[in-house]
Amino acid sequence: MKPSTAIVTGGGRGIGEAVARALTARGLAVTVFARTSAELERVVKEGGAALAVTGDVSSEADVARLLAEHERKLGPCDLLVNNAGVLVRGAVDELQPEQWRHSIEINLTGPFLCARAVVPGMKARRHGRVVNVASISGTVGTPEASAYNASKWGLLGFTRCLAEELRRYGVQAMAVSPGSVDTAMLRQTPFPPDMTPDDVAKVVVFAGLDAPDASTGANLEVYG
Ligand SMILES: NC(=O)c1ccc[n+]([C@@H]2O[C@H](COP(=O)([O-])OP(=O)(O)OC[C@H]3O[C@@H](n4cnc5c(N)ncnc54)[C@H](OP(=O)(O)O)[C@@H]3O)[C@@H](O)[C@H]2O)c1
Repeated sequence: MKPSTAIVTGGGRGIGEAVARALTARGLAVTVFARTSAELERVVKEGGAALAVTGDVSSEADVARLLAEHERKLGPCDLLVNNAGVLVRGAVDELQPEQWRHSIEINLTGPFLCARAVVPGMKARRHGRVVNVASISGTVGTPEASAYNASKWGLLGFTRCLAEELRRYGVQAMAVSPGSVDTAMLRQTPFPPDMTPDDVAKVVVFAGLDAPDASTGANLEVYG
């Protein structure tokens, strides 16, 4: 079955915006979801997505509303791209517990909540994919990035578990792990960019639409 709709979290700018535009160009009806409605509305107005829903991935109520609005206006969700994320930096002995929790809530619990919302429909239809945008930070250690890296290591583990759970339903889960991408997030770091959001979007589109089903559980690292 050809996928016809997608949800892209964090679709208002950066990698998520590029993914939404690329999926739209492939003919999918895309919902973009993030907290800043002006950015989402701009993407829709410019033709990069079909629907904007404002909310927070770490809120169960917002995620439930996201899926309800998507299904009502665009139909069943064939592809979820869990891309929303935040970068929290600081040495372990300087990080406040709420900063740690914020990172885990958005980068790890958010993808869990969104997957939890779409998976029942995908299982019932025996069709669908979840692509989690992790990071090369999900396989290495980086000073002053424990909250971020731990969330991404967790997201890779979550992806593998999801793939194992969903295989027998004909539903796939994959991760895409970029290196340094030219976005607002990277500008908070000392690292220079090695690629553009469009470079990463091509790999996310491959994972979501073109990769064989047997790729489920894979982590596609993207170094630019
Ligand atoms: N840039 C890089 O070098 C790089 C490398 C590896 C992985 N990544 C990953 O790629 C993903 C996208 O990052 P980016 O570089 O494109 O960053 P970005 O430009 O800062 O975009 C992040 C997006 O996530 C949304 N978002 C953040 N918190 C959210 C929340 N609680 N609920 C809903 N949406 C939320 C943001 O919108 P609002 O703030 O309006 O909510 C925005 O649309 C992230 O998961 C990041 O960890 C980035």
